[in-house]
Amino acid sequence: MNTTRREFFLGSAAALAAAPSPAADALTRPRRLIASAPVLMNPAEQTMDVAFAVNGDASGWVEVATNPDMSDAVRVHSGDGPVMRVNGTFAAVRLSGLRPATRYWYRIGADRIELENEYKPWNRGSEADGTVHSFTTLGAESSGSFCVIQDTHGVAPVVDAVLSKIAELKPAAIIWNGDVRNFYRTADDAIGVFIRPHPNHLAYAAETPVMFLNGNHDYRGRFALHLDDLMLFRNPRERAAEYAALGRNFVQRLGDIALIGLDTGEDKQDTNPRMGGIFRMKAYRELQTRWLAEAVESPAVKTAKFKVAFCHIPLYDPDPKENPGDVLPDDDDPRYRYPWAAWQRTCANMWGPLFAKAGVNFVCTGHQHRYRLDQPGPGRPWTHLIGGSCDVIEGKVVDGKLRVTVHDCKNKTVSTLLHG
Ligand SMILES: [Fe+2]
Ligand SMILES: [Fe+2]
Repeated sequence: MNTTRREFFLGSAAALAAAPSPAADALTRPRRLIASAPVLMNPAEQTMDVAFAVNGDASGWVEVATNPDMSDAVRVHSGDGPVMRVNGTFAAVRLSGLRPATRYWYRIGADRIELENEYKPWNRGSEADGTVHSFTTLGAESSGSFCVIQDTHGVAPVVDAVLSKIAELKPAAIIWNGDVRNFYRTADDAIGVFIRPHPNHLAYAAETPVMFLNGNHDYRGRFALHLDDLMLFRNPRERAAEYAALGRNFVQRLGDIALIGLDTGEDKQDTNPRMGGIFRMKAYRELQTRWLAEAVESPAVKTAKFKVAFCHIPLYDPDPKENPGDVLPDDDDPRYRYPWAAWQRTCANMWGPLFAKAGVNFVCTGHQHRYRLDQPGPGRPWTHLIGGSCDVIEGKVVDGKLRVTVHDCKNKTVSTLLHG
């Protein structure tokens, strides 16, 4: 909406004449509709998703442009179905048709929707957040580093520490490798960790996109069953129709690095009575194996100088006391320390040969809450890294080599590994 200078002053004068006291104003003024900074998600060559919190029923939108003055901005609303997607607590918008390795500028806004009754919906108008942010799409021509975090579990000092390090490192993408929270009862639980994770980091992902991979905990709770409403599954165009269920898996190029995302699922058997018979992780892991077999043959992987895979549960453990996650029916076996998976032997057996064939250099995992480095071994020609809760694993191509640096944000130590 354009307001002339004269209208602006007239409006200001009228507003001043009728101005209520500040206290009364605070009581009567509608709450701002937009309730957070944007969080970029699911970066790809042609896609970027944007989520943010709202106060009240709204259809969120994003205006995206190829220049910082936003002169060619195009507005994209939440949802691509026949009706605007309206939600009382958050908005999630998919931007598609973008160019690879290209910088875009964007700002967010929302239409306030009032559903007076089933026959009377009202669009009460737009509210814009004036801040212009930017992002860069991924692709073989893109550049920069990736950072991996894991097992933050919503613990405020941990979140503060790892997001402070990420703010300092300014990666091109954040791989949030699972166990972001213990469980999700409501949408607010998810908003509290993904959209407003810490008051010191209100715009932590407004310019750095998040690539979220589920940990076992991210499957727990009523809202966990709907987490993809907020943390959208990746664009279905990224995969063949038979892999439609694999909304978290990705193969994306960040310059010379192929990033490969996998989901190890729950840390208990589908048959474990504690899981209520509602999980289908066995079939899900097998479907991912078929997807991975094709993915490693794709040009994006084959032409990449370096390959790094990510999943939450480790794919190796040298300690025979650690439960390998394949104990039927209920994970309980006196040989093992705990009745749940400390590592995922089934996934290792299915995915490991494909990683070896593809020449994967590093596999980054979490779940055990303690850093560990496993050098390559027989049948396992990749370096296996387990990040702890306070670790940020940074990967970047420097002087033709893949440099992986582990930043321990608790003890303030750094260790560096090179490949290539
Ligand atoms: Fe964890
Ligand atoms: Fe975990």
